Amino acid sequence: MPTATSSDPAGTILLIGASRGLGHAVAAEFLKKGWKVVGTVRPGGTRTKLHDLADEFEGRVEIETLDICAPDQVATLRHRLSGRVFDMLFVNAGVTNNPHETIADVATDEFVRVMVTNSLSPMRVIESLQDLLTPSGLLGVMSSGQGSVSNNETGLREVYRGSKAALNMFMRSFAARHAATSRAMVLMAPGWVRTDMGGPDGRLSIEESVPNLVNVLLLKQGKPGLEYLDYLGHTVPW
Ligand SMILES: NC(=O)c1ccc[n+]([C@@H]2O[C@H](COP(=O)([O-])OP(=O)(O)OC[C@H]3O[C@@H](n4cnc5c(N)ncnc54)[C@H](OP(=O)(O)O)[C@@H]3O)[C@@H](O)[C@H]2O)c1
Repeated sequence: MPTATSSDPAGTILLIGASRGLGHAVAAEFLKKGWKVVGTVRPGGTRTKLHDLADEFEGRVEIETLDICAPDQVATLRHRLSGRVFDMLFVNAGVTNNPHETIADVATDEFVRVMVTNSLSPMRVIESLQDLLTPSGLLGVMSSGQGSVSNNETGLREVYRGSKAALNMFMRSFAARHAATSRAMVLMAPGWVRTDMGGPDGRLSIEESVPNLVNVLLLKQGKPGLEYLDYLGHTVPW
């Protein structure tokens, strides 16, 4: 199992989609390791689990608002964060649709909602906020094992799979465009985890996935180039 030593220098992560589920757990894990977290929640003023972390880790959590599907909000956030420097940018936000709905029967609006949220919007966030990273910073996105084309032998969750496969492709194109960068880039597959999205039948608890996932991110830091990794640090076939 991968480990990151406690002597790792703490840094600051900009974490997109940290209100609940895996994003909240990633925030909590970085805080436990001494990092600062600038985390986003969707606008609307609702108190979230990230607000509880801000109370618990006083002075080390800043809460920003962002709906990743609203380009004007992405631009406003970029403006608000001008002059800030981050060691990691990790885009966690994502959605799913009814897993039984195939590409044959999904409504066009629903298809667009999933694709725009999971494929286009994370890339827009990355394109807009990437220059806030240190030159050796890590740029990460929450993908899914379901995004692997090679591993798709069962079908199921067709629309969601397609959205994460598209995200993977867009990140590969981004990496190709930035081939000379010293930044590390990672598409992360967290495993099937029991969250609101993963449901009660997920194979892993949040505690079994996220501390490992965070160690994988820390170990990838400083290693340029894009990798598609699972929560144990294993390469996922494209
Ligand atoms: N759970 C799994 O088994 C699993 C497996 C593989 C990959 N993933 C991926 O891991 C990520 C997190 O999943 P999860 O299980 O933690 O899901 P979740 O419990 O449903 O949480 C989803 C998170 O994404 C945020 N979000 C959704 N749409 C957004 C938008 N338009 N703008 C900003 N934030 C938005 C949500 O914010 P609100 O609270 O405002 O709704 C929430 O923080 C997703 O990208 C998912 O595809 C999950």
